[in-house]
Amino acid sequence: MERQVKVAENWTPDSWKAHEARHLPSYTDAQALAEAEHTLTTYPPLVFAGEARALKADLAEVANGKAFLLQGGDCAESFAEFHPHNIRDTFRVLLQMAVVLTYAGKVPVVKVGRMAGQFAKPRSSDTETKDGVTLPSYFGDNVNGIDFDPVQRKNDPQRMLRAYSQAAATLNLLRAFAVGGYSNLRQVHKWTLDFMGRSPWADKFAQTADRIGEALDFMEACGVDPDKVQQLQRTSFYTSHEALLLPYEQSLTRRDSLTGDWYDTSAHMVWIGDRTRFEGSAHIEFARGIGNPLGMKCGPSMEPDVLLKLLDTLNPNREAGRITLISRFGHDKVEAGLPKLVRAVKREGHPVIWSCDPMHGNVIKSDSGYKTRPFDRILTEVKGFFAVHRAEGTHAGGIHIEMTGQDVTECVGGAVGIADERLGDRYHTHCDPRLNAAQSLELAFLLAEMMTMEAGQAQANAA
Ligand code: PEP
Ligand code: CO
Repeated sequence: MERQVKVAENWTPDSWKAHEARHLPSYTDAQALAEAEHTLTTYPPLVFAGEARALKADLAEVANGKAFLLQGGDCAESFAEFHPHNIRDTFRVLLQMAVVLTYAGKVPVVKVGRMAGQFAKPRSSDTETKDGVTLPSYFGDNVNGIDFDPVQRKNDPQRMLRAYSQAAATLNLLRAFAVGGYSNLRQVHKWTLDFMGRSPWADKFAQTADRIGEALDFMEACGVDPDKVQQLQRTSFYTSHEALLLPYEQSLTRRDSLTGDWYDTSAHMVWIGDRTRFEGSAHIEFARGIGNPLGMKCGPSMEPDVLLKLLDTLNPNREAGRITLISRFGHDKVEAGLPKLVRAVKREGHPVIWSCDPMHGNVIKSDSGYKTRPFDRILTEVKGFFAVHRAEGTHAGGIHIEMTGQDVTECVGGAVGIADERLGDRYHTHCDPRLNAAQSLELAFLLAEMMTMEAGQAQANAA
């Protein structure tokens, strides 16, 4: 029987152009844009459609309450911070977090990096003024440069090609780490970073690692050779970014030769930001036609009826694993705002993953003038998110964080106690403040506690 191709109706990779696009840069030289787009269309896909389907299958397990999604990485990747150590260290912290969640939370963890393509940023204002000089805002390294200088701030389509190359090299290293021996569970002790010693959670991680080592020794004594068990030797690691810069995404959208379906081959998963997910938007139009798993941010302005319409548009076949709803309300709004969305989605029977972004609703300007996020507010939002799902009987399925493996000082608080006056020490982000390695690990242990509570409640309900 001929397979039915599920191409969305009246959709083409460029049908978004007939829709309202917010937060897209304008390029003064249309010819230069067309040339860069054309070059990109001749480049190899960064991911293969089959991998995006594998991620969707893994995410279907999350949607069914049997796994947890861990998504994290930079707010904005940059050309300046492109370095193998940065890639390795962020990957390493995500592995550490996944180990904690798998061991303590006792569920499989689907690992997705905000990496290898997370360049474009929506900005609240199109322009920035400093000392009476007004220039276009910085829109991410694949659009313009961060330095406050008229040449740097000019949108340059050639930057998309550089972003592609950086994404390709990053992805290549991530794939090597995932399957080439680095991720072998026997190495779990080696994934720690020197500067983590200052966090009390580093000891706790060492204890978890000891126990995992003992479990592997035990398996070996029983005759199972852990070195021959693939699941212990390698891991699956996927990439994702916000599909904001549509000329870039469109140029990497290809028809899968196996199924005939369209995939955005710039990443395994892409998401739509809170500012571009309105009904009829160009970004929603683009996303509905690609077969990748999709994320969609839901902030305080999301109304239940709009959410349901968007879900019908993006997931008409109600495939589990297709949609991850990433709530980002803020520590003081999540418990009041999230339940109505959860109830509406549950009532309509849409299979979604609920994931918590405790970062974007919790940005403040510190006394020292830096944009920061207090660690306790991040935790409060996560706790609120879990509390809502416990009350609604739904699965708190994932976490979406801005973090780095570097020892940065961007978010205040945590057990390492980053004080406001220390923010300037190592404040390196190109956009929003990220959790550093120690804060990320601390969050993982607190998440594991909440997952244990959720599992306890599920058992009590079943009894
Ligand atoms: C982001 O994830 O970096 C972002 C801009 O988030 P949001 O769309 O939720 O504001
Ligand atoms: Co951000």
